[in-house]
Amino acid sequence: MATLTVLKYPHPLLKQRAHPVTRFDAELGRLAEDMLQTMYLEGGIGLAAIQVGQLRRLVVMDLRDAPGAPVAEEEDGEEVDRELRRNPRVFVNPVITASSGETVSEEGCLSVSEYTAEVRRAAKVALSYQTPAGEARQEEFEGLGAICIQHEIDHLNGLLFIDRLPPLKRQMVRKRLAKLARSA
Ligand code: NI
Repeated sequence: MATLTVLKYPHPLLKQRAHPVTRFDAELGRLAEDMLQTMYLEGGIGLAAIQVGQLRRLVVMDLRDAPGAPVAEEEDGEEVDRELRRNPRVFVNPVITASSGETVSEEGCLSVSEYTAEVRRAAKVALSYQTPAGEARQEEFEGLGAICIQHEIDHLNGLLFIDRLPPLKRQMVRKRLAKLARSA
């Protein structure tokens, strides 16, 4: 496994549309593994391939370490090995086939440093996707899972969560982040 570099806003690749995955081979599995390792290292709960410079419709996710996630395994103050708590998920060519409700929550992104904002999303989504082996699957998500999936699919379409903010706020944030990038 290898750790990959996460591209930061305003990297031009982050605005590109990713291409459907057509080769379900060992290399795809390795990329997903590397993305998971990178995501864990950076402390994220989701990562799209485009964020590591790969224009492919591939997303990884693990909600176990999300802030506010249930930590039933840590009863009696016992620290459970992080590796054991993990629940890595891989979604190839994910498509939202239905969505309902509305929810607003604070979002951040590994490609957007030092900024979080409230974003409006569907509360519930139905997802069709493929496994790294190419098998077709369907699954429903709500809560954080639904929010994360929508955020990651946005990445595959060249959108960041800051692109979902109201126009005035979006302008302000872009200026601030551009300034931050220049001073880095
Ligand atoms: Ni993101």
